[in-house]
Amino acid sequence: MVRCDQESIVATTAIGSDNITRLTLRQPDDWHVHLRDGAMLAAVVNHTARQFARAIVMPNLKPPITTVAAAESYRQRIRAAVEPGLDFTPLMTFFLIDNADPAEISAGFTQGVFTAAKLYPAHATTNSSHGVTAIAKIRPTLEAMQCLGMPLLIHGEVTDPAVDIFDREQVFIERCLIPLLAQFPALRVVLEHITTRQAAEFIAAAAPCVAATITAHHLLLNRNALFVGGMRPHHYCLPVLKREHHRQALLAAATGGNPKFFLGTDSAPHAREAKESACGCAGIYTAHAALELYAEAFEEVGALDRLEAFASFHGADFYRLARNRATLTLEKRDWLVAKEFGDGRGAIVPFRAGQTISWQLREPSPASVTAAA
Ligand code: NCD
Ligand code: ZN
Repeated sequence: MVRCDQESIVATTAIGSDNITRLTLRQPDDWHVHLRDGAMLAAVVNHTARQFARAIVMPNLKPPITTVAAAESYRQRIRAAVEPGLDFTPLMTFFLIDNADPAEISAGFTQGVFTAAKLYPAHATTNSSHGVTAIAKIRPTLEAMQCLGMPLLIHGEVTDPAVDIFDREQVFIERCLIPLLAQFPALRVVLEHITTRQAAEFIAAAAPCVAATITAHHLLLNRNALFVGGMRPHHYCLPVLKREHHRQALLAAATGGNPKFFLGTDSAPHAREAKESACGCAGIYTAHAALELYAEAFEEVGALDRLEAFASFHGADFYRLARNRATLTLEKRDWLVAKEFGDGRGAIVPFRAGQTISWQLREPSPASVTAAA
């Protein structure tokens, strides 16, 4: 296998054919993940920590993370749940509420506790009832964040029930995001988990301080996946899956080499009974195989050579953090995903449960990490 120190080169080995069957890349980061708390945190965090060096941890706990002290204590619980030997840094976020205190957010950012703040429109998604009801209610905070260079992470969907659920992202861009960026032109903004052609085009044309994350499931599935032979609650997330032409636009954005687009799994675990319910929760669990799923998506469009930049460089550059030094290796090999993690009540049904994934992470070896560091 060839390994080159030049950052832009992905080391690959073709075994027996022209097809790439092994891929070594710098260790990636997950720029949007839900790690939850308590028993759920313990059940999921090592899936993330096994692959990713850092992760932006969403603050939509009950109650949400709205103080420096709460973030520090949550960060401590995350660190305590990580397996010894895994080098994983949780990057904490502030949950924006109406009339949020700019001094608290600024203090948390300058002390290195908060990396970013998350804007959930009130009632847009899971655990967002305390979210923001109008941008005007957080204007002083956004001014402070713009001055500090602190990123604003946005769940970009309107909550107006009159707007069709498949149009809520596009309408958010028109009604909320465009005016927000006009008021705060230097604010660093990440539009999270984009799902539409309109969002991909908007981000590509926006100022360099505006970027987007893309999930693996939105690269792999279109909205038909919600109804294959019946209702599929484990494919339900927000923003909801969209039509095939949107998926194609997301694939083009993710694999196009544009540094404005980077990896954010939005892995969002819920207990089986909360998903398989008359009113099932939104959220897809992908952390158990995140990088492998992105590899499948990139392979579909012949762009495996672009995976490293999307997964490991663009996000770190946007967040003004050093790129990771360690490497990971993926191998082309079918493997069977567990039907669930945990059992009985509280078990989590992962993406592709009981089915195969065609790439697999080689077990991280402490030796190789040391050698590359
Ligand atoms: C997320 C969750 O469950 O916390 N659900 C989801 O469908 N993505 C919330 C979110 O990111 O919207
Ligand atoms: Zn999310």
